[in-house]
Order: sequence, then structure tokens, then C-alpha cells
Amino acid sequence: MSWRGVVERLTWGGLGLASAEDGRRILLRAPLALFPGEEVEAELRWKPRHAEGTVTRWIREDARRTKAACPVAQACGGCDLWEAGAHEGELKSLMVADLLGRQLPNQAYTFHPAPPSARRHRIQLHWDGAALGYHRRGSHALVAVTKCPAAADPLSQAIPRLTDALEARILPGKSQRWELVTGTPAGEVRAVNENGQAWLLNPDGWHKDANPVTHRFGDLRISQDAGAFFQVSPEWAHEAFSTVLDGWNLRGETLYDLFGGVGFFSALLGDRFHKRMLVEGFEPAVERALANMLALDLPTECVASDVTAWCPENLGTPADLILLDPPRAGLDEALALKLLTAQAGHLILIGCDGAPFCRDLQRLAPAWEIQELHALDLFPRTAHAEFIALLRPRNH
Ligand SMILES: C[S@@+](CC[C@H](N)C(=O)[O-])C[C@H]1O[C@@H](n2cnc3c(N)ncnc32)[C@H](O)[C@@H]1O
Repeated sequence: MSWRGVVERLTWGGLGLASAEDGRRILLRAPLALFPGEEVEAELRWKPRHAEGTVTRWIREDARRTKAACPVAQACGGCDLWEAGAHEGELKSLMVADLLGRQLPNQAYTFHPAPPSARRHRIQLHWDGAALGYHRRGSHALVAVTKCPAAADPLSQAIPRLTDALEARILPGKSQRWELVTGTPAGEVRAVNENGQAWLLNPDGWHKDANPVTHRFGDLRISQDAGAFFQVSPEWAHEAFSTVLDGWNLRGETLYDLFGGVGFFSALLGDRFHKRMLVEGFEPAVERALANMLALDLPTECVASDVTAWCPENLGTPADLILLDPPRAGLDEALALKLLTAQAGHLILIGCDGAPFCRDLQRLAPAWEIQELHALDLFPRTAHAEFIALLRPRNH
């Protein structure tokens, strides 16, 4: 059914909230940003108590709305906020306020908008045998792309080179999922297929390559294997996390870097802790973390294990810090239960999906209270944000 009305506010995930005449709630999706106060037309599907709909036409646009700087912005599922332009931070802060206001009422926090320079250093593309591109919004169909303005320039420029090599069968066309990745600062580009095989792009084409991708942040140098996890916008992630961690200035005996990857947070915290223990489930990342930390002269005990299986009861002493950076789904319940007995002086919880992050803070709440909370826009042009909380024992 067609409906016409005003977007009252923005919710977590970028959905607009409006009200029907009878007061029932309407959740509105718009492909490339919604501003509160805009008047729109939408097609609604009614559920028992509310409606969900997609905006089909703008009747009154917000003056801040901009033209998308990407030719496939409407169809491509990779970005949600192109038409917010320079005002994306304002919209993202409203989304974060909606989530935190509902999940952690009265909790103070700081929001850090992304700088306009933040670009993705890792993009995942799909090859269907004829074209290379991203998934269409809300489906697995392909949107062919020849560039990606959300990505660092060298990655964007490498897209047609990858298409050419796949069309010419120079690279194995059987692989359907391809990642393009570059280091920091952005430069060399590698293409990695779904089997983890990597090729380096040279002026004369793609060359099989097993060397790591290297990120340099001032004096700090961290390597990752192409295809392994690393921060998507590394320069901005480094700046944002450094600002928060420097502000907290935590020091002590042992850092437990859990879900440690290749050692990003152990490296950021440097020699503030006398000893470091990193636990990570992906073995190649553990080997890389060991090498990264040795090269930084910060010897670290690196353990390849599932964090929940590894984590003992009563972990740490009051001089220690436990830092947890789990994948999107957050902490599993068994791990959260073990952490209720932990003896560390502080715990840092990081999350790249706000809903599981808030759930985990609530699970930890019987033993751990929030000392400080930050929301970082590490995923510009999407409706996602990163969260980091400093927790202290409730009985401190
Ligand atoms: C969000 S990433 C964080 C990595 C690292 N802290 C960083 O910032 O680069 C989550 C990491 O947890 C690892 N991981 C996922 N599930 C795990 C588990 N159950 N036990 C141990 N590590 C796990 C992944 O391999 C990945 O490296």
C-alpha cells in the first residue's frame, strides 16, 4: 500500500521512523540515506503491529541531501549513505544515539565521525563468469563495477585489471569470491581468491605472491597475510583507536589481547604493559602476530585457540588489562560468564556491530561497569559503526 508522510527520526541501521494516522509505527528504508524531517512516499507492508516500507519518492528533501558520488550507488549493496555526502557523520550520530538510548539509557558516550579521507583498504568482489562486481542491495545478484569510490584509489583502479585477468582466464575464473587488499599507506594491490591464493598487481599484470600486506602507522609496522582480517580503513582506525587508548593511558602488568588477530591492539598499546598474551583462533594470524610483535621489540606470548575454550575462570590480577575484540556476533555466552569471574583491573570491549556489543555489555554488567564509551565511524558510507568501552570491576 502507498503511504505519504514525514520521517520523524532515524533509528539504528539507518531506518527512518514515522507514524501512521492511528499511531502505529512505520519503519522506512531508503537506499542512500534518510534525513529526519523529510517528507516521502513509500510502499508499506503491514505486520500485526507496525509497517515496514521502502521509500519510492521524496516529496520534500532535506537541503543537505547530495548527489551520490558513485555511479552504481542505487543498486549496489556495499554502501547505504552516499546521499548524505558531507553530512554522513550527523546521520550516523543519530543512529548511534537511537541504539545507545534504547540499549544503555543515560550512558554517556563520545561519537567520532569519520574524516572525509577514510577509504576501504579491503573490498570483496564477486565474479559470475562474465562480470565482476558487488552484490545488489538485498540480493545475491551482481552489480558489475569498474570502480569503487568508497575504496582507496589503488584498489578502485585495480578492479578493471582484475576483470580483464578473469575474462582472459589469466586468473582462475572458477573462484567466485575475490578480495582486493592494499596496505597502509595504500599502494601495492593484491587479489586473493576464496582459496587464499594471492596475486600482486604489477604494471605488466598479476603475479602469484605469498608476501604479507604491510601497514605503516608512523614508526609502527604491522603485517597481515592477504585475505586475513585487518581493519578496513586502517589509517582512520589507527587514528581513532589511538586517540581513545591514549586518553585512557592504561598501564600495568599483563595485557590479554583476546581475538587479537595479527596484533593490532597489542602493537597500539606498545610497552604500556610489561607482558602481553594474545589469543587468536586463526593460526596464520597467530604466526603473523608473533612475528609482528617481535619485530616491534614487544615479545608476546601468542596462543592459537578458541578464546572461550582458552579463557580460564578468574583471569588476571588487578594490574592487568583484558581487551576483547570479537567478530561481529560478539562474545558467546559461555565466555561472558567466565569474564564475570575475571580479576583484571580493567576490561576493554570492542564491537563492530552495535546490537551484540550492547548485549555483551549487559551480560557483563553484574561484574563490570562502564567507565567510558566511544562510538567510532570506522565504516563510512555504511550504516555500521564500531564501539569501544572501558569497563572497571563493579566493586572497585
Ligand atoms: C574483529 S577481528 C579483531 C582482530 C584484531 N583485534 C584486530 O583489530 O586486527 C576478530 C578476530 O577474532 C578471530 N576469531 C574469531 N572467532 C574466534 C574465536 N572463537 N576464538 C579466537 N579467535 C577468534 C578472528 O580470526 C579475527 O582475527
